[in-house]
Amino acid sequence: MAERLYLYPVWLRLWHIVNALMFLVLIATGISMQYSNPDAPLIRFDLAVRFHNIAGVIVSINYLIFIAGNLATGNGRHYRIMFEGYFKRVLQQMDYYLRGHFKGEKAPFPVTADRKFNPLQQGTYVGAMYLLLPLIIITGLALLFPETIANRIGNFSGIYLTALLHASVGFLLSLFMVIHIYFSTMGATPSSNFKGMATGWHEPH
Ligand code: HEM
Repeated sequence: MAERLYLYPVWLRLWHIVNALMFLVLIATGISMQYSNPDAPLIRFDLAVRFHNIAGVIVSINYLIFIAGNLATGNGRHYRIMFEGYFKRVLQQMDYYLRGHFKGEKAPFPVTADRKFNPLQQGTYVGAMYLLLPLIIITGLALLFPETIANRIGNFSGIYLTALLHASVGFLLSLFMVIHIYFSTMGATPSSNFKGMATGWHEPH
């Protein structure tokens, strides 16, 4: 039987729990500001703005911890994608998630000390952490200091375009989070990946 692996050091778990909790605040307040009727808001508008701003600043500072931790420890290596044959490996993993897992087949890319993520996790984590998070942080900070935004970009208002990009990336990250949580249930047991993120120890599959 494969051994338990210590894959999530304390700094990573702290980063992740702060990030996850703040994302829940951002999603609730963001949806409230975006969609609710101003006369009957989901969350009172001024409170939603204040909590959204505070949670956004915490996520941004926390992001620096993620980057520094990945640079300072070996964890960053798990985010380096080997592009040769990558697409084929993603299809194999998708086949497992959509079919093999439910038939009790073995995972095609079992977790090892050198391969913490399967190809699909690797691609989505890189996309979320190194593309979408920087985009949402930069546009969020720009909206917090709107004087830094160009008045007009082509025919459009700069603030409008920045807000559109910010909300669209927020939507993609929310989608990422839902799919991320669902796939996290496909470990050795439905709860084992969550236990791993709580204790640091990954249960072999
Ligand atoms: C309530 C919300 C969340 C839950 C329950 C959750 C759950 C988990 C679990 C169980 C793992 C370990 C399994 C694995 O390696 O894939 C994990 C890892 C990870 N999660 Fe989440 N997550 C949440 C929110 C988020 C959000 C909002 C982000 C980013 C925007 C995120 C990014 C990551 C990353 C990058 C890893 C891998 C960390 C590493 O080992 O380097 N998670 N998450």
